[in-house]
Amino acid sequence: TPDVKLVVMGRMGVGKSALVVRYLTRRFIWEYDPTLEFSYKHQTLVDDDVVSMEILDTAGQLYGDNRRQWEGHVRWGDGFLLVYSVTDKQSFHDVGRMKEFLDEAKKPRNVTAVILANKMDLNHERCISTDEGEKLAQELSCGYFEGSALLGDGVISEAIEELCREVRRR
Ligand code: GTP
Ligand code: MG
Repeated sequence: TPDVKLVVMGRMGVGKSALVVRYLTRRFIWEYDPTLEFSYKHQTLVDDDVVSMEILDTAGQLYGDNRRQWEGHVRWGDGFLLVYSVTDKQSFHDVGRMKEFLDEAKKPRNVTAVILANKMDLNHERCISTDEGEKLAQELSCGYFEGSALLGDGVISEAIEELCREVRRR
C-alpha cells in the first residue's frame, strides 16, 4: 500500500488531468477528455525521504452526477488537491463547497487539503485574482499554490510535496 493516497478534485475542465500528467511525464496534453478517471502509482523524494503515493485523478463530472462514487473517493483519500481554473468563477466557488463536503465526511479529523489555482498562463481570460485565491485558502485553512499545467512551472510538484508532508506529519 502507498504511504500517501492523494485525490485530485475540481470542476470539469479545470486541468486536473493535465496537471497530473504534467507531473508524472513532464508533457502537456492539449486534448480534453472529460471521461477519464485514472489512478497512478508514483514514488518521489520529499525532504530526502522516499514517499510512495497513489494519485487518483477524478472526473469533474462525478461531483455533480455520481455522489456515491465521489464519496468513495473521499473516504479513500488522505490528502486532497483542490483545483480550480483562474478563468472559471464557478470552479473557484466549487472549491469551497468541496472543502465543506470533505470536512463533513472526515469528521472529526482535520482534512489535509491544498488549493491549486491553474491556467495562470491565460491572463487575458483571467477572472479570479491571486488575492481572491489566497483569501479563500485562508478561510478554508488550506495551502495555496498557483501556476499552469501548460507552462509546467512546477506548481503541481510543489503542491503534491506539500500534501505529502502534511499527510505524513499527522
Ligand atoms: P475533467 O476530467 O472533465 O474533470 O477535466 P480536467 O480537470 O481533467 O481537465 P483537463 O486536464 O482535461 O483539461 C481541460 C482542458 O484545459 C484541456 O484542453 C487542457 O489542455 C486545458 N488545460 C489544462 N491546464 C491548462 C493550463 O494550465 N493552461 C491552459 N491554457 N490550458 C490548460
Ligand atoms: Mg480529467
